[in-house]
Amino acid sequence: MKYTITTPLYYVNDKPHLGSSYTTIACDALARFQRLNGNSVVFITGVDEHGQKIERTAQGKNMEPRVHCDEITEKYKYLWDKLNISYDRFVRTSSSEHESLVYKFYEKVYQSGDVYMGRQSGWYCVGCEEYKDTEKNDINPICSIHKKKLEWRDEENLFFRLSKYQKQIENLINIDSFISPQSRKNEITNFVSKGLRDFSISRVNLNWGINVPENKNHTFYVWFDALLGYISGSLIEPGSLELTEQSLSNWPVNIHVIGKDILRFHAVYWPAMLISAGMEPPLKVFGHGFLTREGHKMGKSLGNVLDPIKLLEYGGIDAMRWYLLRDIEFGEDGDFQMKRFVDIVNSDLSNTIGNLLNRTITMSKKWFQDNIPTKDINYNQSSLKKISEDKINEYMKSFKESNFKSCANAIIELANSANLYLNDREPWKLIKDISNKEIVAHDIYSVLESCRIIAVLLNPLVPDLSIRILNQLKTNTSSITFKNSLKWGLLDPNNGLQDPTPVMCKIDFTEGDLSE
Ligand code: MSP
Repeated sequence: MKYTITTPLYYVNDKPHLGSSYTTIACDALARFQRLNGNSVVFITGVDEHGQKIERTAQGKNMEPRVHCDEITEKYKYLWDKLNISYDRFVRTSSSEHESLVYKFYEKVYQSGDVYMGRQSGWYCVGCEEYKDTEKNDINPICSIHKKKLEWRDEENLFFRLSKYQKQIENLINIDSFISPQSRKNEITNFVSKGLRDFSISRVNLNWGINVPENKNHTFYVWFDALLGYISGSLIEPGSLELTEQSLSNWPVNIHVIGKDILRFHAVYWPAMLISAGMEPPLKVFGHGFLTREGHKMGKSLGNVLDPIKLLEYGGIDAMRWYLLRDIEFGEDGDFQMKRFVDIVNSDLSNTIGNLLNRTITMSKKWFQDNIPTKDINYNQSSLKKISEDKINEYMKSFKESNFKSCANAIIELANSANLYLNDREPWKLIKDISNKEIVAHDIYSVLESCRIIAVLLNPLVPDLSIRILNQLKTNTSSITFKNSLKWGLLDPNNGLQDPTPVMCKIDFTEGDLSE
């Protein structure tokens, strides 16, 4: 089956931050999970380059917008590589391929009779690139998100007939699986129930954007342009002049993962635009929460913006991915805490999993000719087999709900059970009597097999660590799928074992500053 997943297309006004890293890591985990499940995945990410916010940032740096965008785009690609993000498509909205797509799409919406010229006046936030519901006679209103002054605008714009799609959007958001989690769904239901209003899709006096055909002093509104990036990323041949079911690798998108601040655009405006163009809306929109740091909102003026590159250099890729997916309830707001980061990573990855593997490989090599013990006839009766099957089921169910925290819990519970098993069985005592060798072989095989299963389950969350564990167990790491690797008893004693080296080193707590 095909499966398309997207991150938002990130604004290039600044380098990537912890929030964008968080969304991207979560999407990467989902994409890897779907691949392991045997699906053919199209994982789309990219950057949102047009609009006033970017134009002004470039002006502030005395740079051509394009040069500025190239520079920041490279920073995104660099970080995604460092985080081992397995994206298939990287969309740039300033590319000529994307521009052709925007024209194609606009033509369809225009043909549906959904575009008209109107006048828009109101308070605008350049940070959000959005008109705000603020009264005209408000004095010096401030954006609640960006804490910056709103700007009064009164201009001729092209409008999209969103109001025409009231019924269709109501029906769509009523589909149980469409918006997750439930709290976000309630928010959108409430918004839609107030009645949808047409919204403007062009801007005047803005050069850094895509020109609207036949209205040369207008450029497309940055959101109208950027949302179409999801189609650009799905085109089998980028830049193709066709926009039909056949020209797309997989449509509709299975899941758009976004932060809660941009939910309306994805769950209301975007589906209506697609319906207008005769295309299917996405199957799901997942709105995750916001991250704070040590209880405070991160902000430039506060000087507390955690730099993902510094965090990565300090803790490493596995630590960063594991902490964000394991400690923060996906969908809820979360707080990044340095002490917890260190404690969780050390406890879960170095101790519970790393030590389990290390001590078991050491025992196995010592007592069984440098190797994995041969499977005994009772290997299928191991109590760890039943536990691993239960934990695999929990993990699968949780992953389908994008509940990474509970996936991680299932893995740790399996590792805890394997540690307890060793502590109960005490093979180091049993082995002293040679007649126990078969029993010890059974126990060691069971624990090593649990380690193999743990490594496979870790793969979508912390792929690098997963591969290091599988390598120590000399297990083939190419072309693994859940189907061909989660059955109990696949660990092959003929392959041997690598020398035990710690798969995850402990990190020391730092009071040092990882801020930008
Ligand atoms: N360019 C638009 C998206 C267009 S999609 C067609 C945009 N870009 S953004 O760079 O400002 O935001 C990207 C994502 O980062 C959003 O999903 C936003 O919710 C998320 N985050 C921004 N700050 C965040 C936190 N502090 N914590 C978690 N995510 C946050 O919006």
